[in-house]
Amino acid sequence: MSLQEARRLDQRYLMQTYKRAPVDLVRGEGMTLYDAEGKAYLDFLAGIGCVSVGYSNPAVVTAIQDQAARLGHTSNLFHNELRGEVAECLNRMLNTLPAEDAVLGWDDREADLSGRVKTQDAGAHWRSFFANSGAEANECAIKLARKYGKEQLGGAHLVVSLKRSFHGRTLATLAATGQPALQADFLDEQERDAAFLSVPFGDLEALEQLVCDRARGNVCAVMLECIQGEGGVWPSSVAYLQGLREFCDVQGILLIIDEVQTGFYRSGSYPMSYAHAGILPDVVTMAKGIANGFPCAACAARDRFGEVLQGGDHGSTFGGNLLAMSAARATLGQMQELGLALKVSPVGVYLQSGLAQLAHVSAVRGSGLMVGAQLDCEVAPAVVSRMLEAGFILNATSAEVLRFLPPLICTRENCDAMLAQLQTVLEKL
Ligand SMILES: Cc1ncc(COP(=O)(O)O)c(C=O)c1O
Repeated sequence: MSLQEARRLDQRYLMQTYKRAPVDLVRGEGMTLYDAEGKAYLDFLAGIGCVSVGYSNPAVVTAIQDQAARLGHTSNLFHNELRGEVAECLNRMLNTLPAEDAVLGWDDREADLSGRVKTQDAGAHWRSFFANSGAEANECAIKLARKYGKEQLGGAHLVVSLKRSFHGRTLATLAATGQPALQADFLDEQERDAAFLSVPFGDLEALEQLVCDRARGNVCAVMLECIQGEGGVWPSSVAYLQGLREFCDVQGILLIIDEVQTGFYRSGSYPMSYAHAGILPDVVTMAKGIANGFPCAACAARDRFGEVLQGGDHGSTFGGNLLAMSAARATLGQMQELGLALKVSPVGVYLQSGLAQLAHVSAVRGSGLMVGAQLDCEVAPAVVSRMLEAGFILNATSAEVLRFLPPLICTRENCDAMLAQLQTVLEKL
C-alpha cells in the first residue's frame, strides 16, 4: 500500500489524536529503520524509548515467533511457564543498587564513570503485577497506594505528584500528570484535587508543607519520575531523591517511582534510574523498554507493600500473557548479554558532549541514552522534520527541546553521524 493510501485511510478511519510524520516505516534492523522505498533512517527515538535492544533483535524475534507458534494467550486464570521467571528477573533488576563505595549521581559530561557499575543487591522482595502499558502500570500503583492508605494510614487517599510530570492518559494517570494543558478538557480542578495534588519539581519544602500542613493526614504516597521525560528531560538531583526517600520514611507514606521511560538501562549504568541516587522506592512502575516494543508493563512493590493487593483487587485480561512474557524474557536476557550496564553510559556521555558543542544548543540534560537538548529558539519541530528528510529520527518534547532516546545499542559512530547532520541543520537556521 502506498503512503498516500495509508494516509487517506488513517485520516478517514482513525481518531486524529496524533500528528504523524509523513513516512511509512516498514522494516527495522538494529539502529536503523527503512521506509517502503528502501530509504534508511538512523533512529534516535526507538518507538519513544521502547526498542531497547534494537529493531528485529534476533533473540527477541525468535522468542516471540516460537511462543506464538506454541501458545500465546491463556489469561491470568492459569499459571504460565514464563510469568514467574520474568518477575524473578525484575526482582533482581529492581534490587540492583550501586555498591556502597560507588559514586552516586547521573551520567553527565563531567562524570567519572569508573566504578559506577559496582553494584550490590538491596535484598528486598519485589512482587510484580503485569499490565500492558505504562498508564496501566501506574493505575496499579495508584490503587495499591490508596488501598494501603485506607488500611494502614487511617484513610489517607491523596497521591502527590510533581508539576511537569507525565504518568499517562487514563483518567487517573492524567490526573496525576502535572500538566494542566493535557487535563483541561477532561478533568476540572476539583475532580483532580480530590485524588492528586502537585508540588513543584525538586522542592522538598513545598512537599513537606503540603503533606504536613495543607493535606495533613490525607496523603498516602508521593509519585514521580527520577528524570521527567515527556516534560522535557529534567533529571532530579540526587539530594532531592534521597530527601524524598527520607521524608516518605518519616511520614510513613509510599514512594512510587515511575520508571516507565527511565527504566531498563535507559538512564545508564543501572537497570532502574533511582539507583543513581542509591535509594530503593516502595513501588516501581515499568513499561516501554521491558519487551523491546512488544506491549508489556509491570507494577512492582517491595516486601510488605507487595502484599497490599490481593485476590480480586486488580486484574488485566492480557497482562503477563505468554507472548508478552516471551518478549520480556528475551529482551531482559539481551540486556545482560549485550552488557548494557557498561555500554549505555559512555555513549550517552559522548552524545551529551557532542550536542553541547552545536549551534543553538543552550543546555544539555539527561543521563545514559535519555538526553534532551535545550535550544535557544523555538525551532525543535522544524529541526525534527529536516532531520527526518535527511534520514534521522529525532523527537521534540516542546518547541525548544529536542529529545534523544535511541535504542540502547547506539554507538559513538551512530552519534557522530547524527550529530554531523544536526550541526548542518542547526547552522542553516
Ligand atoms: C514516565 C511515563 N509514565 C507513563 C507513561 C505512559 O505510558 P503508556 O503510553 O505506555 O501508557 C509514559 C509515556 O510516555 C511515561 O513517559
